[in-house]
Amino acid sequence: MFRTRPDARPATIAVFVEDATVLVPEGASAAAAVLLAGHAAIRETAVTGSPRGPLCLMGVCFDCLAEIDGVPNRQACMVPAVAGMRIARQRGARAARP
Ligand code: FES
Repeated sequence: MFRTRPDARPATIAVFVEDATVLVPEGASAAAAVLLAGHAAIRETAVTGSPRGPLCLMGVCFDCLAEIDGVPNRQACMVPAVAGMRIARQRGARAARP
């Protein structure tokens, strides 16, 4: 008995990384979108300004903090990309909300 394989390619959606349009597979994370956009670094550290990029991709290292749809300090690896999402790299410290 043969079974047909489901379509191996997921649909793509368009997101904006630093105002550039990037096509990503549906279900990918915002961090994956940043990497697909060609940015190895997604944030700069608050004290020394050292570049950091997604490392663990599972919510542990916090090296993927980004501004997503205007909200800073989001863990990009834990946020699913949705069509039209705006992702910006984060430079330095951001204020915490009360
Ligand atoms: S890549 Fe490590 S917490 Fe997001």
